[in-house]
Amino acid sequence: MLPKNPEHYNEISIIYEIIWKNLIEGVNDRNSDFHTFALATTNNDKVSVRTIVLRDCNKKDLYISFHTNNTSKKIKEIKKNPNVECLFYSKNEKIQIRISGIAKIFNDDHICHKIWKNLKQDARNCYLIDKKSGSLINSPADVHQEHNNEVSKNFSLININIKKIEWLYLSSSGHRRVSFNEHNLFKGNWIVP
Ligand SMILES: Cc1cc2nc3c(=O)[nH]c(=O)nc-3n(C[C@H](O)[C@H](O)[C@H](O)COP(=O)(O)O)c2cc1C
Repeated sequence: MLPKNPEHYNEISIIYEIIWKNLIEGVNDRNSDFHTFALATTNNDKVSVRTIVLRDCNKKDLYISFHTNNTSKKIKEIKKNPNVECLFYSKNEKIQIRISGIAKIFNDDHICHKIWKNLKQDARNCYLIDKKSGSLINSPADVHQEHNNEVSKNFSLININIKKIEWLYLSSSGHRRVSFNEHNLFKGNWIVP
């Protein structure tokens, strides 16, 4: 017998709701498959991709966000080209979500200060180091922790304003693929899987 497909398998409007349910779970549940995603950026004709923790999402204002070090390579890349793509994949749910959008950097402003207040010390420590992200060192011991109670200028929030969400579900009884974008007012269109 073929495995049962989810109830939203053929309902675009329900698929959209499930996408946001998945993203909200990803923000709140560190065990969710949607807690991390791969972020792709470009630098002229080169591409970089790396794992990122999903920190927030907002269906009404259409954004997802993450925290990063302001000295990291991705910041330079986003400043040059804010077009990014985010890839989520859940093996359990057999769902791939690709989010394309425009990244906006927040640094050393009241939003960063507010988030910093709620960060645990472990998380803060990632930004309280005396070396730039990605710089060459002779040994891991060359990186020193700074003991500072002030908001680190290395801490940045990145909001990705969503332009397109593509959802793909693979099933032995027929794959399903939908594009939600500005042109279809995020109501969705079926596309060939
Ligand atoms: C599970 C996991 C979660 C990560 N989460 C983040 C994150 O939320 N923000 C971040 O900047 N880097 C995160 N990283 C590190 C990045 O993958 C990457 O190595 C780092 O940001 C440097 O990237 P860049 O030099 O391309 O800017 C994470 C790595 C792993 C393995």
